[in-house]
Amino acid sequence: MLHWREFLLPYEAAVEELKNKLKAIRNECRKTNEYSPIEFVVGRVKQVPSIIEKAQKLGLGEDEIHKIDDIAGIRIICQFEDDIYEIVKMLRAREGLDMEIVLEKDYIREVKDSGYRSYHMIVRYPVYTLKGVKLVLLEIQIRTMAMNFWATVEHSLRYKYKEALPENIAQRLKNTAQAVNQIDTEMQAIRDEIMSAQQLFMHKSNTVSQILNDINILEKMGEHEAAARFRSAFGMMHYEQEGEMDLGLEELAEKTREAVVIKNKTITEKMGDQGQSWPDEETEEAGPETAQAAQ
Ligand code: GTP
Ligand code: MG
Repeated sequence: MLHWREFLLPYEAAVEELKNKLKAIRNECRKTNEYSPIEFVVGRVKQVPSIIEKAQKLGLGEDEIHKIDDIAGIRIICQFEDDIYEIVKMLRAREGLDMEIVLEKDYIREVKDSGYRSYHMIVRYPVYTLKGVKLVLLEIQIRTMAMNFWATVEHSLRYKYKEALPENIAQRLKNTAQAVNQIDTEMQAIRDEIMSAQQLFMHKSNTVSQILNDINILEKMGEHEAAARFRSAFGMMHYEQEGEMDLGLEELAEKTREAVVIKNKTITEKMGDQGQSWPDEETEEAGPETAQAAQ
């Protein structure tokens, strides 16, 4: 006769531990103001009647119950489909550290007949008990909030019918799965668009900083005329007026950089004439002439 309480203790420990580890990642992201691919984590240990039922279904004896791979379960919920694969990568990186991946099932690329979508991983997880290390199997389900909504509602509806779901109901549920999938796809597309707009903005703002910085350097190096010309070109661009130099942002950035480099070269060459230059440490052996050419 199996002592259920004792048998289930390591499973409970495994769920608690892994849940906390994943929550720690989410908290770390919050504290560092980084986006967290994990929205929330839940976990459960299967109820004894369900375990017995499953063992019967699989034809497992009492001494084989540990072969059931979902007695311990963790569910990771995220916002976007991309997050799911981010989490999968993160978990794979732990292989051999605090878990061993036994099996992966991608029900997002290969949607189940019911319409069910999620990413599943079965892992072997070590629990440190009084009697030593005990390895338990644990099922990790990774899904978006939309996938979770569908699976939760579908499960509760299916449960009402037990095994035989009428064909038309099954079909309608499948249709709702498709609608939910469209939401995920559109949310992901919107996110991608926002992210690339943000990147473009960052790039533009860096270019503008570089131009203004170069103009400042030119002025400090005595190139007042060039600085004024560039400043005017930048101003023209700002007001979208036509000016002496009709340049785009990227071209202007190239021109100001070029002007700084050229001016710098003339200055260093003059310094070289006066013997005030010395080779960089890494080019020391090459001698002063080569070192200057490299600048
Ligand atoms: P199970 O006997 O259900 O464990 O089947 P399995 O061992 O072939 O595993 P599978 O990967 O198919 O499913 C494991 C778990 O995924 C289930 O226990 C459910 O939590 C979930 N799942 C799979 N299919 C469906 C589905 O059609 N609807 C819902 N709501 N959940 C599903
Ligand atoms: Mg299973």
